[in-house]
Amino acid sequence: MTENYIGILTSGGDASGMNAAIRAVTRSAIFNGLKVKGIYRGYEGLIADEVKELNTEDVSNIIQRGGTILKTARSKDFMTPQGRAKAYETLRKEHITALVIIGGDGSLTGARIFADEHEDIVCIGLPGTIDNDLYGTDTTIGYDTALNTIVECVDKIRDTATSHDRLFFVEVMGRDAGFLAQYGAVAAGAEAAIIPEDHTDADQLETFINRGFRKTKNSSIVIVSESNKDKGALHYAKRVEKEYPQYDVRVSILGHLQRGGSPSAYDRILASRLGDGAIQALLEGQRNVMIGIHNDQIAYIPFAEAIKTDKPIDKSLIRILNELSI
Ligand code: F6P
Repeated sequence: MTENYIGILTSGGDASGMNAAIRAVTRSAIFNGLKVKGIYRGYEGLIADEVKELNTEDVSNIIQRGGTILKTARSKDFMTPQGRAKAYETLRKEHITALVIIGGDGSLTGARIFADEHEDIVCIGLPGTIDNDLYGTDTTIGYDTALNTIVECVDKIRDTATSHDRLFFVEVMGRDAGFLAQYGAVAAGAEAAIIPEDHTDADQLETFINRGFRKTKNSSIVIVSESNKDKGALHYAKRVEKEYPQYDVRVSILGHLQRGGSPSAYDRILASRLGDGAIQALLEGQRNVMIGIHNDQIAYIPFAEAIKTDKPIDKSLIRILNELSI
C-alpha cells in the first residue's frame, strides 16, 4: 500500500519565522509517524509539481533564518479553476492527502476555495504574514520580527530627526491594516501614527499639527501606514511643505527590509507552536481551519472566519499613543 504524505508550502509575501514553521510541521509530523513533502514556490510549485520529500535533516539549521527555504510566490494560476485542477493532480500523483499552507489572507483564501472543491484533501492554514491581519489569532508569524525592525529603524531615524530638528514621515508596510504602524509607533515612541482603522472624519495630519508637535519637542516622527493608498508618507510630506512651510520635513519609506532578517524569539516560538498545532489538528481530524494562538491557547479558526477583512485594532493603543506623545 502506498503511504500518504502531508504537503507543506509557503505562499504570498515571505515572513520571518516561516522557516521555523516549516521545521516544526516537518519534525512534529515525523515524530508522530507521518511523512512530509515540501512544495516549492507556493501554489505555483504545486501546479508545476515541484515537490520533494522532507526529512528531519532537511529542516536543520533553518529556525534562525528569515525568508522561506521552500520559496514563495503569489500565484495567479491558482486563482483559476484550471490552475487548481492541476494542483489537485499533483497532490494525487504525489500521494499528498493533507496540505499545510503557511501564508496570509490571499493564500488562505486560495486554500478555502481549494478545500471546498476537493473534499478528499484536508487543508490546514498557518498565519504567516507581517501584516497581522488574520482574525482569530493574536499575532501572525513574522509580525513581531517586522515590528522590531521598524523600531530599530525609527530609533536610527530619530537620531537624525533630533539633530536637525526635523519632522519625519516614516512609511511602513501592512497592506490594508495599520497594526505595524500603530504598534510600531507606540514601541518607537513616535509622536503619531496615521492608520486606516482610525475612522474618524478628522484630518489626521491636521489633528497632529494642531496638537502642536513643537510645543515641547523640536523634532517629530509620524508613522504612516502604506494602507492609506494614495495617502502615504509622501502625500503627507507634500501637504506639510505646502500648508506648514515652517517645518523641515523628510520622508523615509522602510519597504521590504521590514520582511527580512532573522526571526525574533517570539516569532520562532509562535511558529513552533503553530507548526506543532497543525499536526495535532490533523491527528484530531480537524479540516479546513487556520491554527492560531488566542489568549496564549491554540485555536482552530475556520478559513472563512480567519480571512474576514478589517481585523480590529485595539483602540486603546490609539489613545495611549496620543497620551504618551505629549
Ligand atoms: O503582505 C505582506 C506585504 O509585505 C504587505 O505588507 C505589502 O503590502 C506587500 O506584502 C508587498 O508585496 P510584494 O512584496 O509582492 O510587493
